[in-house]
Amino acid sequence: MSSLRVLLTADQIHERIKEMAAEIDRDHPQGPVYLIGILKGACIFLADLARAMKTPARLEFVGISSYGRGKSSSGEVKLTKDLDVSVEGFDVIVVEDIVDSGITLSYLVQVFQQRRPKSLRVATLLDKPDRRQRPVRVDYAGFHIPDEFVVGYGLDYAEDYRNLPDVCVLSE
Ligand code: IMP
Ligand code: MG
Repeated sequence: MSSLRVLLTADQIHERIKEMAAEIDRDHPQGPVYLIGILKGACIFLADLARAMKTPARLEFVGISSYGRGKSSSGEVKLTKDLDVSVEGFDVIVVEDIVDSGITLSYLVQVFQQRRPKSLRVATLLDKPDRRQRPVRVDYAGFHIPDEFVVGYGLDYAEDYRNLPDVCVLSE
């Protein structure tokens, strides 16, 4: 039997997102900013972050090959859905649900850097710094969390639990 324990409540998450949005507004007084969400985990965070921001934002999504049904990274990343537009000359923020090993983000930052944006920053709701294998500069981090597997608020385990309003630790 698997069990869920609430780590971050929906209220805590929304309060923190307001602060992150204010920071982003401060750093980007001029819009539009491209928010690039990494499917599928980041979609709920991106939707709330975008609405908490005052700076005009444009929403884009990319798909990457993921963990599949496991809980740890295969170490391989592949772009399965690219951007629909050119972001050359624009301010860009890559929006991720969680940074774990850093493999996904370090790959994507390298890919988007080649698209010549005016600026490129990274926002993540959750950060597990203890598990880092590749260095990544995270500009906006919602919460640093311990090395535990979490689900909810967009995060899944084998595609389940994404629509939980809280972030919960999943244990078996
Ligand atoms: P990284 O490439 O190891 O940094 O992994 C980032 C991706 O792994 C995230 O976008 C998530 O999809 C997934 N991931 C990492 N840790 C967790 C977790 O605790 N719960 C759910 N998904 C996770
Ligand atoms: Mg995922």
